[in-house]
This record gives sequence, C-alpha cells and structure tokens, in this order.
Amino acid sequence: MRIAMIGSGYVGLVSGACFAEFGFDVTCVDKDGDKIARLNAGEIPIFEPGLDALVAENCERKRLVFSTDLAGAVKAADVVFIAVGTPSRRGDGYADLSYVYAAAAEIATVLDGYTVVVTKSTVPVGTGREVERIIRETRPDADFDVASNPEFLREGSAIGDFMRPDRVVIGTEAERAREVLGRLYRPLFLLETPILFTRRETAELIKYATNAFLATKITYINQMADLCEAVGADVSDVARGMGLDGRIGAKFLHPGPGYGGSCFPKDTLALAKTARDAGAPVTIVENVIAANDARKHAMAQKVVAALDGDPKGKTVAVLGVTFKPNTDDMRESPALDILPALLSAGVHVRAYDPEGMKEAAKLLPGVDFVADMDSAIKGADCLVVLTEWNEFRSLDPEKINAALKSPVVVDLRNVFAPGEMTAAGIRYASIGRPPPPRK
Ligand SMILES: NC(=O)c1ccc[n+]([C@@H]2O[C@H](COP(=O)([O-])OP(=O)(O)OC[C@H]3O[C@@H](n4cnc5c(N)ncnc54)[C@H](O)[C@@H]3O)[C@@H](O)[C@H]2O)c1
Repeated sequence: MRIAMIGSGYVGLVSGACFAEFGFDVTCVDKDGDKIARLNAGEIPIFEPGLDALVAENCERKRLVFSTDLAGAVKAADVVFIAVGTPSRRGDGYADLSYVYAAAAEIATVLDGYTVVVTKSTVPVGTGREVERIIRETRPDADFDVASNPEFLREGSAIGDFMRPDRVVIGTEAERAREVLGRLYRPLFLLETPILFTRRETAELIKYATNAFLATKITYINQMADLCEAVGADVSDVARGMGLDGRIGAKFLHPGPGYGGSCFPKDTLALAKTARDAGAPVTIVENVIAANDARKHAMAQKVVAALDGDPKGKTVAVLGVTFKPNTDDMRESPALDILPALLSAGVHVRAYDPEGMKEAAKLLPGVDFVADMDSAIKGADCLVVLTEWNEFRSLDPEKINAALKSPVVVDLRNVFAPGEMTAAGIRYASIGRPPPPRK
C-alpha cells in the first residue's frame, strides 16, 4: 500500500515515518522546498526525540521519501493524508481551513484509481464533507472516499504516541475506506490498540472534545493552585489526592503558567466557535479560554511581586521558553505573553532553553538569549522557571543562591522542592505550594 502524506510538519513527518516503519511506502510531501531539501539531505527540521534515527532508517530502506511533487505522490497513492496546518484564523478564532481546502483542490486534480483521502489535520465538524465536495466538484469522475483520522500524538513523545496510541479513531461510513484504513492500522490492531470506527462527523468532534477536556483539566488544577495559595493548602497533594481516584486519573493535573502549544489554544477556540454556531455553546470551554488567557498575565505579575513590585532595571533569568519540554515548538508558548510583559515592566530578561532558542529569538525581540543555564543565572536578581526541562531539575539550590545577586526563585512548574530552596536561604515562590514553616 502506498501513502502520500501532504504536509511534512510535526504530524505529517512523524506519521509518515511511523507508517514507513510499519512497512508501507510513504512519500512525505511539502510545499516548503527548503524543508524538503533539508529532509533529503538527512536533516530533521524539527526537534522530536528519536525522529532522526527513525527517518534515517526508513529512508535507507527506501520506504520513506520526501518530495515537493504532490501530483506524483498522490497519483501513485492508495491513501492520501492531509496533514497541513489548521491555525486559528486571525481576528475571529475559527480554524483556518484554507490550507486544507487548497490541498484538497490540488489532490483532486491528480487522483488516479480508487483513493482514500484522509484528514489527519485537526478540523472542525463538517470539514470532511466540504473536502469531499471540493474533490467531487473538481473531478466528478474520481473514485475516492474521504475519511477522518484525527491524530492524538504529543510533541516530545510523538513516536511512542503514534506507535502505541491509546486508541485510533477512524471516521467513515464507506466500506472500502474502512477496509483500506483497517489494513493500514493492522499493526496497531495486532497490539490490541482499540480502533474506533465512527461517523466522519463524530471522529472530527472526538479530537476537539478530547483536547478541550485536557485543556479544562489543566485549567482546573491551575485554579485549584490559586485557591491553595489563598488558603495554605498544597496543590501537589491535592492533585495526588484527586489523581489517585480512578475516575479522574493523575495525568494533566500539573499546575503551571497556563496551557500553550500548537493545539490546545487554537482547538479550544475553534470548538467554542463551532458550538456557538451550532446553537449548543460549550460555556465551560469558553471559561477555560478566558481563564487561561488571564493566567499568563497573572504569572508576569507573580514575577513582578517576587521583585518586591519594583521590576525596573532588574535582571530576570528565565529557564525554558518552549510551551513544554522535549520540543522546539514555540507556538502559543506562555513565554510569548509573560516575557514581553516583563520587558514592558522594565526588566532585563536573560533566557536559556535547550532546544527552543532559535525559534524564540525570532518571536521575542528584546530578550537576551544565552548559551547555558549558568550564564542565565549568574548575577540575576531573580530566577524564573517557565518550562520543566529535565536538566533544570538538577540545579543545586546552594549553587543557585551563590550565583544570583538576590536569592529569589519563581518556579512556575514546581520543579524544585520548597524545603530545599528555603533551607538554602532562597526566597521561593511556586505554583500553589505553601512555603515550609520557618525553623
Ligand atoms: N503538532 C501537534 O502536536 C499535533 C498533534 C495532533 C494534531 N495536530 C494537527 O495536525 C495538523 C498539522 O499540525 P503540525 O503541527 O504538523 O503543523 P506544521 O505547521 O508543523 O506542518 C504543516 C506543514 O504543511 C505544509 N503544507 C501546507 N499546505 C500544504 C500543501 N498544500 N501541500 C503540501 N504541504 C503543505 C506546511 O508547509 C507545513 O510544513 C494541524 O491540524 C494540527 O492541529 C498537531
């Protein structure tokens, strides 16, 4: 079976490489010639653990190729995945489907023989129907079905997520498409992965319902953290006490500076818009969006408060700028709100991130990016942890105290132990964990 993957970004590249690993012949297509040239030169344009080895191995076995030639790839394919971006539309928050529809129109002109066209991009309910209409209108003679197969992988653990997912969702009512996609995911079926066949609209909605629920869970624990701070409770214990309840589960109960990334912000917005338009508003998600926006500003204020309300001229060392560890993705990272707020307050921001600085430097003018943790911290008035990269956890409190000009740490990811920080003489603020009693 031959696969054409249209769009070779985080999802297209990982999915394409994983399908090749299953033994299928995959062509990953992108209209970005530079990206394809780099891939053909053996360079991986994104940071994703394990992806370089997986791509190299499958290229060597000739099961994975990269091309800008959409027509050639689609003509030869039995399955064409659309994995292009669906960002928020500027101004109104609806999902911008222009890339999806443009890809559909291009695919239509070159379809050859029975082909299953699959939306892997996250798309609002009804998009599959529109993709089908576009293709049918362009090529009334074409033999094809349009299915929905939303992707649930997480950046940073994308290969493991693709290879061992909690479930695969396939939205189609066409028997032939069901059979083809069933064969494609057979390697996962053999591992007893639940494969859920649904109506196309249902599959489209499952993806949004899932992401909005996870964003809600994060926002819930963030607000519990605020409450903990107000009443002297410890959010780590609250999260553990909640998470041990099998009906709730421990994941996504880590408080922080607000959710970000390429998915939750745009998907919550798009779901809220779809639901309003359908006359069935999901007010919970609307509140989550507002609370998350407000939170990022509140986090900047938390840093200002740690500087005794007098931020002007102070130097703040920031560790981590990506929206989460193990990725170089800066899309909607809380850093993009928090750091400009600190700059506007007159702070000199010195930042270090293991993978995200190249992209961050383009998006955060005025921030001074440095080569390592030590250079960031040395002589700063305050240390702020924004992303929980593992290497930050090993920082020694005594060393931090010695390096900082004034020993103030604002830990927006709760990576440090409050007791160890205060024992080292550091004024320590975390998210929702009270300082240990002074001896
Ligand atoms: N990034 C994630 O963690 C993640 C997880 C699950 C689902 N998704 C969804 O997957 C989709 C893709 O996300 P991403 O993060 O991979 O995006 P991305 O921006 O990293 O990649 C999209 C790629 O598509 C290419 N492209 C656009 N139009 C094209 C066309 N007509 N022909 C060929 N290439 C084209 C772009 O050049 C780009 O390289 C989105 O809908 C997103 O919501 C993303």
